[in-house]
Amino acid sequence: MRIYQAHDYHEMSRKAANIISAQMIMKPDAVLGLATGSTPLGIYRQLIDWYHKGDLDFAEIRSVNLDEYKGLSADNPQSYAYFMRANLFSQVNIRPENIYIPNGLEEDIEKECLRYNSIIRGLGGIDLQLLGIGTNGHIGFNEPGEAFETETHCVRLSQDTIRANARFFDSMEDVPKHAYSTGIKNIMQAKSILLAASGEAKAEALYQALCGPISPAVPASILQLHNNVYIVADEGAFSLFRERGKRIG
Ligand code: PGA
Repeated sequence: MRIYQAHDYHEMSRKAANIISAQMIMKPDAVLGLATGSTPLGIYRQLIDWYHKGDLDFAEIRSVNLDEYKGLSADNPQSYAYFMRANLFSQVNIRPENIYIPNGLEEDIEKECLRYNSIIRGLGGIDLQLLGIGTNGHIGFNEPGEAFETETHCVRLSQDTIRANARFFDSMEDVPKHAYSTGIKNIMQAKSILLAASGEAKAEALYQALCGPISPAVPASILQLHNNVYIVADEGAFSLFRERGKRIG
């Protein structure tokens, strides 16, 4: 595990974007596992900037998103398909046919999960998986308590997650209660993983993920067992390491 500390969100975003761009340069047709949420926004802005400067090319890149709310169409502004289009895909030269996101409108859960797992396998697996971390330690929508061996599945979102994500909706009642998410097994099968975290709200989750026991109670703790993980986080997210006397990196 390689751990990099950044001063603030801006620097965290640049460092994380550097790792993604290194992957894209080394393998122009890389399969990127992408994430939504507040954390990756700065990373995507940086990648777009480098793309406009001619330093990055998405022409052969394939992308597989982690998750999607069940019941939302790709045109719904709260959907993750919409988020990815607005915040990255529409601003770079990725080909639409190389973009994969679970279909939130598919009612047949088994069918959608099998379809998504077979897409990931068909692409030869994920080269670099970008992850945020939930305040409850979740990765993707793999909530505390989920078995580590799950692949794509339909998740019932925890109250913590619904509360955290309510900021993107008019009210808590509007947050979908279910989502399709790739599983811990899909994430752990990625050849490399980049977890980004910013701010003190993530400090306890990050501390437990990296220094606590490996347990489904903190889904991100499984990353301790992966042999190619980059952690990039800012001072706020690492604040408990300092307080509790743990070395960073
Ligand atoms: P955030 O979410 O980036 O919006 O903080 C991260 C997550 O829940 O995985």
